[in-house]
Amino acid sequence: MKFALATANKGKIEEMRNILSSLGIEVVTRDELDIDIEIEETGTTFAENARLKAIAICKLSNMPSIADDSGLVVDALNGEPGVYTSSYGGENLTAKERYEYLLENMKNMEQKSAKFVCNIVCVFPSGKELIATGECNGSIATIPIGESGFGYDPIFIPDGYKKTMAELSSDEKNAISHRGKALNNFVELLRLSKASGECV
Ligand code: IMP
Repeated sequence: MKFALATANKGKIEEMRNILSSLGIEVVTRDELDIDIEIEETGTTFAENARLKAIAICKLSNMPSIADDSGLVVDALNGEPGVYTSSYGGENLTAKERYEYLLENMKNMEQKSAKFVCNIVCVFPSGKELIATGECNGSIATIPIGESGFGYDPIFIPDGYKKTMAELSSDEKNAISHRGKALNNFVELLRLSKASGECV
């Protein structure tokens, strides 16, 4: 069974394709399906936004569709930026400008703990839905370091590491990341749902 990926974010596409192919799942992207739409993320939770994206792409592709909604939850900022991580600091900023804005807001904060959260929703043409989550705990760095990954990776130090997510290889990141965990959980749910004979 092939799955459509609802995300248009190149960093996420690369990670999701690598992780899912290592788990035996084949995916096609929106580009490959020629689906060029803007999906408004009007939900107030990661799960709601992921569901909106998965439903929209499932309707257009008529294929089971996997959407990711993810973000950074910072304790000292009362959980911000959370579901608004992709627009943190305003519209039309680069990823670098966004994490610099976050670093500026964290400058005088002693508490640096944070986590990346990922919700995966898969919607099937039958209407069936599978939902999986994953989290990666860590802390916000004082300066950005590293070139790998995307988004806020240069300022996030996963627990148990002395380097940022952007200094890890893609395999190292995928093994501990919120997205890696959520996708592993999703594939487990998919296997259980197939094994129990549920029609997906
Ligand atoms: P959305 O899921 O499309 O709403 O956007 C998620 C936002 O969180 C993006 O702006 C990313 O920059 C950020 N984000 C999500 N996952 C990661 C990650 O693995 N590394 C760095 N930033 C991430």
